This record gives sequence, structure tokens and C-alpha cells, in this order.
Amino acid sequence: MSKSHWTVENMPDMTGKITIVTGANSGIGFEAAKEFARNGATTILACRSIDKAQTALEQISSEIPDASAEIIRLDLTSLESVNRFADMFKVKYDRLNILVNNAGIMWTPYGTTEDGFESQFGTNHLGHFALTGLLLDLLLKTPGSRVINVSSLGHRSGKMDFDNLMFENGNGYSRHGAYGRSKLANLLFTYELQRKFEAVNASAIAVAAHPGGSNTNLGRHVESKWYFRLLQRLTERMTQSAAMGALPTIRAAVDPQPKGGDYYGPNGFMESRGYPVKVKSNGASHSESDAQQLWQVSERLTGVRFNFG
Ligand SMILES: NC(=O)c1ccc[n+]([C@@H]2O[C@H](COP(=O)([O-])OP(=O)(O)OC[C@H]3O[C@@H](n4cnc5c(N)ncnc54)[C@H](OP(=O)(O)O)[C@@H]3O)[C@@H](O)[C@H]2O)c1
Repeated sequence: MSKSHWTVENMPDMTGKITIVTGANSGIGFEAAKEFARNGATTILACRSIDKAQTALEQISSEIPDASAEIIRLDLTSLESVNRFADMFKVKYDRLNILVNNAGIMWTPYGTTEDGFESQFGTNHLGHFALTGLLLDLLLKTPGSRVINVSSLGHRSGKMDFDNLMFENGNGYSRHGAYGRSKLANLLFTYELQRKFEAVNASAIAVAAHPGGSNTNLGRHVESKWYFRLLQRLTERMTQSAAMGALPTIRAAVDPQPKGGDYYGPNGFMESRGYPVKVKSNGASHSESDAQQLWQVSERLTGVRFNFG
């Protein structure tokens, strides 16, 4: 392993840091949570399934016996659950150093969340938007805190359509299009959050990351047709490990180099694999008017108002 590549060996000591990782029981989130714990952080596994989270926690504890990690239930398809998570977290903790908005679903059939949001947009964007807003007071009072939003190369195929943001009743829905829109929303949210942090001179920063193509459980909703399964099997062979895929997220969260509004991804072939470096997202992700409109709509839909005061 070349020393010039950024790896987990470059991670600083995280003793005393409080971190939350959504979707920490699997894939990228599991790897990130494990490395935070290994480096001394108190790590909250924010997961929808307590059983799966318990298994993940046992795996972390067996590898890192002195890990400081705990589970707080979070289901991003339910605003009630997001609110309950924030309340429970605040009962125990009065600061938050790192929030990793990682959990996600991909290419699911059309469906809606408990609150009636299109599932991919609701889970990947709106749930995390609400979570961040509810934890904003702690982020603002914790010096140098960071919000990391996990996006995807798939943001490039996303288009914002504010007249039919959530493919009402499945109108115009495609699995791929809805995923792309949700991942584009992750970036629009990151950049707007950073502008808002800067406007109040906050020391908090917002950074985005993507894992390239990584072998995780994300493909579980891919069509059951034989050619999709074949494609999936081929993709699995070409993709990197979840541990490698987690590096951009981990670097964005802990390395001194990332600045607010940066985006980290793998340095290899077409950003599909490799070691984490600063990368560029597409033009649409930098649209300030779309970012502002998305922010207003997200506040209205979730009922969560960000108070930077
Ligand atoms: N793997 C890749 O190649 C790739 C590429 C680009 C971007 N990404 C992004 O990376 C992130 C992590 O995905 P992954 O690849 O690690 O997939 P994964 O192995 O499927 O992990 C996804 C995690 O999100 C959780 N999750 C899903 N819906 C949730 C909900 N409603 N509430 C709370 N947690 C929920 C899952 O919980 P359950 O286990 O209970 O379902 C799981 O812990 C996602 O944002 C994804 O878009 C991945």
C-alpha cells in the first residue's frame, strides 16, 4: 500500500468525539462506524432494525473490545422515528462532532414512506434533512463539527422537477431516475447547508462523499429479471470492498484537509474505485436556485425548520 494514498492509517485519534452514522449495520456505514470506534470515538449506530444493529455492534465489539458504541433506533421513512431519535440522542449527549448521513436505498419499486413521500427521496434525502435540522443546535455548539452526506455517481442522472418532485402516484417514476434525484438532492443539500453555515460564521462544515462502486447490500432491490441479476453479479466482481468504499466518507469526516462544500470520492477509473481524493460533482448539483428551492420544500414537507440563530 503506497504511503501517498489516504487510508484508515491516516485517521487521527478520535477520543472524546461523538459521532452518529445512519445505516451503520451494513456496507459503507458499518465500515465507517467501525473505524470511528477503533479510533476512540463514541459511535452511535442509527439503524432501523435493532436486530441487525445488534449483530453489527457485536461484530465491532469483538474486533474492538474497548469500543464505545451504542444503538439508537432510526427509521428514515418515518418523521416520528426521526424526531424520537433526536430526542433520545439529546437526552444522553449535549454535543455532536460528526453526523454521517449514509443510510440509503436504491432502485426500489415505486412506494411511499409513512409520511407519504416517494420512498427513495424520502429515505435518502428528506429523512436526513429532518435529522440534520433536529440536531443542528448541537452541531452549531460543537466546535468544528461536520455533516457528511453520502451521495453517488448516480447524482449525474438525477433531475430536479419541482412540479413533480416525488413522482406523485408513480407518475413518471423510474427506479433509476428517483435514485438519481435523491442523490442529487444530497449534494444540493450539502452545498446549501455549507452556505448557511458560512452565513452565520459557524465552525461547522458540510462535506459530501461517494463510495464509487462498492460491494454492499445496496443492490438488494434490483429487478429480479435474469439479465439484471447477471448484471448485478458482474458488477459485484468489478466493485471494490465496502471497506475501500467507506474511505471517502471517513476521510471527509476526520481528515483535516476537507473544507466545507468539498466532495470526496475514489481516485481510480472514472471514480468507481480507489483511494479517497477531492472530486467534482456535476453542474446541476451546484445550482443555487435549485438548492434554495429544495431547502424550502424540504422544510415544508418535514416540518423541520433549521434555526441558525
Ligand atoms: N455501494 C455502492 O456502490 C454505492 C454507490 C454509490 C452510493 N452509495 C451510497 O452509500 C450509502 C450506503 O449504502 P451501502 O452501499 O452501504 O448499502 P447497504 O449495505 O444496503 O447499507 C444501507 C444502509 O442503510 C440502511 N437503511 C435503509 N433504509 C433505511 C431507513 N429507512 N432508515 C434507516 N436506515 C435505513 C440499511 O438498513 P437495513 O440493513 O435495515 O436495510 C443499511 O444499514 C447509500 O447512501 C448509497 O446511496 C453506495
